[in-house]
Amino acid sequence: MKKNIYQPVKAVIEEIIEESSTIKTFRLKPEGDFSFSTGQFIELTVPGVGEAPFTPSSDPGVKGSLDLTIMNAGEVTSKLHSLRKGDAVGLRGPYGKGYPLDTFKGKDILIVGGGVGLAPLRSLLFSLFSKINNYNKVVLRYGARSPKDIVYKTSLPDWAKMERVDVLVSVDIGEPAWQGNVGLVTTILGNAPIDFTNAVGIVCGPPIMMKFVTLKLLDIGFKPPDIYLSMEKSMSCGLGKCGHCRLGKYYACKDGPVFTYEQLKDIQGIWD
Ligand SMILES: Cc1cc2nc3c(=O)[nH]c(=O)nc-3n(C[C@H](O)[C@H](O)[C@H](O)COP(=O)(O)OP(=O)(O)OC[C@H]3O[C@@H](n4cnc5c(N)ncnc54)[C@H](O)[C@@H]3O)c2cc1C
Ligand code: FES
Repeated sequence: MKKNIYQPVKAVIEEIIEESSTIKTFRLKPEGDFSFSTGQFIELTVPGVGEAPFTPSSDPGVKGSLDLTIMNAGEVTSKLHSLRKGDAVGLRGPYGKGYPLDTFKGKDILIVGGGVGLAPLRSLLFSLFSKINNYNKVVLRYGARSPKDIVYKTSLPDWAKMERVDVLVSVDIGEPAWQGNVGLVTTILGNAPIDFTNAVGIVCGPPIMMKFVTLKLLDIGFKPPDIYLSMEKSMSCGLGKCGHCRLGKYYACKDGPVFTYEQLKDIQGIWD
């Protein structure tokens, strides 16, 4: 019998980590073999509600489970947020093209995340950390709305202590106990300790943040082919068939979700 390409595999929720009041990390154990490359995405089915695309936030090198860090944004995600350890969901994928790690070898890597956009970037960070000697330097700049909205709160200080890794977090709105930077993430990019002539910039976050970070990276000397954007366009099939995710001549699900700015710069409405 012909395989149904839309049929999800069952995955059980093994653990739930509360990252903030609106964001949780779900550790899933899928049935059978399931693997992905960093930056690829999956379609997650919440039984009785529907499905939505998410990019795993875990280390692709860890077999047997995967993490999804998910913001409660609407129908599928609010039901998901009400589920408990032991409940089952569905997964299909992985889909799309991930980050071209070979292209990053020998370079300074500036990673810029906004809000829950740090999720796919955490998976990328794990991949980079596992072969850190392949890269000159990994510089993470992360922006969250407030200290309470920061995800991976316990991991960020550990990453900052690693050799060849530099981490700085900024919040839009501070709090009395917050000792760190206050301001949009663009305000902590200018003095990032990297050699812009041999660097790539990798960005993931809300469209408005991606737009202004891209403009800032261009301003400080990055070239369009060296800026990588994770385009979280509205998707449906995930397979290049329905046309929902069209981006000019590309389908974000099949040709992306990771694109260089060079690929996208002449397409209208990329930040919508
Ligand atoms: C490739 C890809 C990877 C993603 N990875 C993550 C992730 O790791 N973590 C995470 O929290 N979210 C991620 N998203 C966004 C996530 O898919 C949406 O938040 C989710 O589809 C919302 O579904 P819902 O049914 O809960 O909300 P809905 O009820 O469908 O909508 C709620 C609101 O969100 C908007 N919305 C719906 N889909 C999207 C979308 N794809 N992008 C932007 N806005 C949308 C709607 O317009 C509406 O305003 C990703 C999206 C894509 C395309
Ligand atoms: S989601 Fe259907 S073509 Fe991309």
